Amino acid sequence: MPDSHRPRRIEDLPRLAGATVAVRAWVTTTRFSGKIAFVMLRDGTGYVQVVVSKKDVPDAAWQACGTLTQETSVEVVGAVRADPRAPGGGGVELQASELRILGPSHDFPITPKEHGTAFLFEHRHLWLRSRRQVAIARVRHEVIQAIRDFFYERNFVLVDTPILTGSIGEHAGTLFSTEYFDLGKAYLAQTGQLYVEAAAAALGKVYCFGPTFRAEKSKTRRHLTEFWMVEPEVAWNDSDANMTLQEEFVASIVARCLERRKAELAELERDTAPLERVTPPFPRVSYTEAVERLEGLGAEMAWGRDLGGDEETLLAKQFDRPVMVYNYPRGVKAFYMKENQADPRTVLNNDMLAPEGYGEIIGGSQREDDYDRLLARIREEGLPEEAYAWYLDLRKYGTFVHAGFGLGVERTVAWICGIPHIREAIAFPRTLYKLWP
Ligand code: 4AD
Ligand code: MG
Repeated sequence: MPDSHRPRRIEDLPRLAGATVAVRAWVTTTRFSGKIAFVMLRDGTGYVQVVVSKKDVPDAAWQACGTLTQETSVEVVGAVRADPRAPGGGGVELQASELRILGPSHDFPITPKEHGTAFLFEHRHLWLRSRRQVAIARVRHEVIQAIRDFFYERNFVLVDTPILTGSIGEHAGTLFSTEYFDLGKAYLAQTGQLYVEAAAAALGKVYCFGPTFRAEKSKTRRHLTEFWMVEPEVAWNDSDANMTLQEEFVASIVARCLERRKAELAELERDTAPLERVTPPFPRVSYTEAVERLEGLGAEMAWGRDLGGDEETLLAKQFDRPVMVYNYPRGVKAFYMKENQADPRTVLNNDMLAPEGYGEIIGGSQREDDYDRLLARIREEGLPEEAYAWYLDLRKYGTFVHAGFGLGVERTVAWICGIPHIREAIAFPRTLYKLWP
């Protein structure tokens, strides 16, 4: 194959102006003006307009051109021409010398007209090709890379934790279970936290990053049954240091997207002004103070109750960047959180609430490092003691102050993209109602 026919990606065309190249891609739209056709192509790396003149291409190519429909896959050979006004956005277009259909596409279900959400999700496998969905996927990819780089640069060690587990991480009520040979029930991990706590004693600064599962019957815009969570765990960090790590972490993810995903955020029509403000320090408000503030704002909020979605939104609205609410009543939080010696009704934890109504994106805490207190909490919650023997061991052999947190990837992506529902923040969402495609 001559070099000019080596297939190129659309993203590479701007630096190939003047050259003749081959491109394999999908048709998005076509427009005819007499003996010239304008074919818009996309290949996932970008969009480019192909100009096909009847006089410049073989007859078969011109005829093929007349049959192109949305999502037909094609191979085009053409000259790359610089044109700052080219509609593809890359500042180039292709002047075709050859066009061949690779795969026809009849009646592609997702047309440029409006479709209902239910219809779009039934066709999620095809909807993924649309401009907005491609932009969201690329922001998600950037968020994940930013997460990995943040921890890599700080010498954290990635530890992969199991998805099939024998113990409960968060709440007994929201577990998916499956029969596990002769060993009884296995649960799909709600969190990798208990395991990274063990790893923190081995490696100091660690994190896990993987899918987690919650059999939550929530129908909100913020809940999936399968979501991705990143969970750092740091030996010798207390709750305060934990919050400092969180604000640096979130600020770095947002800054990275602003810097490298401008085009995608523009495609999503995201107002980036609120994101530009996401710099440390973030405001810190105790739970007790949050309750007072909420009462002051007219909410009915009794001390001891967890903040609901509406309260989170109302509270977060009072600030221009993410807010950290710390030291919740222990009754509404998980068994492993360290009791606050200054006020034993509360624990040394915090949630981070994103602005603009996105709610909790992080849950974190200092962990109970006292063997007896932890055992008492496990008993209080009616958890099976045998399953936690190994976890208690961490308090038996050189117990240590430690803290960590979990950040939900889809909530973070939804917030950064400014999309209303977290279902669009993952390629194939799993919810109470969704197991296909
Ligand atoms: O607050 P959560 O339940 O905390 C934990 O799982 C801790 N073990 C984390 C830790 O300390 N290592 O969940 C953490 C985050 C939430 O703030 C939210 O962003 C996300 O995970 N999350 C969900 N995202 C989508 N759908 C759901 N059902 C979610 N539940 C939690
Ligand atoms: Mg939480």
